[in-house]
Amino acid sequence: MTRSDPPVPRPVAVVTGPTAGIGRVFAERLAARGHDLVLVSRDAARLRALADELSARHGVACEAAAHDLADAAAVEALAAALAAMPRLDVLVNNAGFGTLGTLERADPAAQAAMVQLHCATPVRLAQAALPAMLARGAGAIVNVASVAAFVTGPGNATYSGTKAFVRLWSEGLAAEVQRRGVAVQALCPGFTRTEFHQRMGFAPTRIPAALWLTAESVVDASLRALDRGGPVTVVPGLRYKLAIAAVRLLPLRVFSAVVQRGPRTRT
Ligand SMILES: NC(=O)c1ccc[n+]([C@@H]2O[C@H](COP(=O)([O-])OP(=O)(O)OC[C@H]3O[C@@H](n4cnc5c(N)ncnc54)[C@H](OP(=O)(O)O)[C@@H]3O)[C@@H](O)[C@H]2O)c1
Repeated sequence: MTRSDPPVPRPVAVVTGPTAGIGRVFAERLAARGHDLVLVSRDAARLRALADELSARHGVACEAAAHDLADAAAVEALAAALAAMPRLDVLVNNAGFGTLGTLERADPAAQAAMVQLHCATPVRLAQAALPAMLARGAGAIVNVASVAAFVTGPGNATYSGTKAFVRLWSEGLAAEVQRRGVAVQALCPGFTRTEFHQRMGFAPTRIPAALWLTAESVVDASLRALDRGGPVTVVPGLRYKLAIAAVRLLPLRVFSAVVQRGPRTRT
């Protein structure tokens, strides 16, 4: 590059749910890799503080976009903004939450919000992001699912169902676009130390220490898989890889029976 060449514009990454946990580490890692960021969740003050911190630390541009992504109108506004981003390189559909209790007793509004946030929102945002990515023949869409996409049990029906959707939808979408240069990933973490369980009012005291992952290890597994060109479904951690391999060989009802006898598992 000569002195007169204009600077090469940085690629843009959009991360949903970056104010805590897994999303925050995605934002940190992508900023460190030289991406400008668009950070999207509800807490405007936390978003602004994170955007200021990451732009100061990594010299990238960070936009804080406060939206409730369980609100379809807000999602439409964000989709329109994504569709107008020619440099959009990475979309991380990460925002999510869990609830306690069976469907019979659950708050209907929270169940509807979960279906919107975990399923409809990622579909709409991916659809908005794809034209620019496909036109460039490059880009990545990371959809944060869960090991709950493979197993379920009482109190976990809607959560597991939405995460199973995310996993299978990601596999189908990858089959549509990966040969045209766009990577799609379904990231399926197990228990990860974040604000997730505290926010849902669940103290997971009976989960063995060896089953806990860090958000850093989860995100690093995701980025390593993207750098290597796959696989689509990524299960971080050897213990969870082995457990999921076993789950895939045996009927779901066997595991449902185990889950029903053991401690409540919500991941
Ligand atoms: N932690 C685990 O054990 C675990 C395991 C497997 C999968 N996961 C999945 O990992 C993803 C990230 O979870 P986490 O563990 O990092 O949880 P977390 O620490 O509670 O972070 C959740 C993030 O989602 C955002 N969010 C929640 N509801 C939102 C909404 N309606 N609109 C916009 N943003 C919203 C929150 O931001 P605001 O509060 O600012 O809106 C926050 O930034 C989720 O999809 C979760 O299902 C977690």
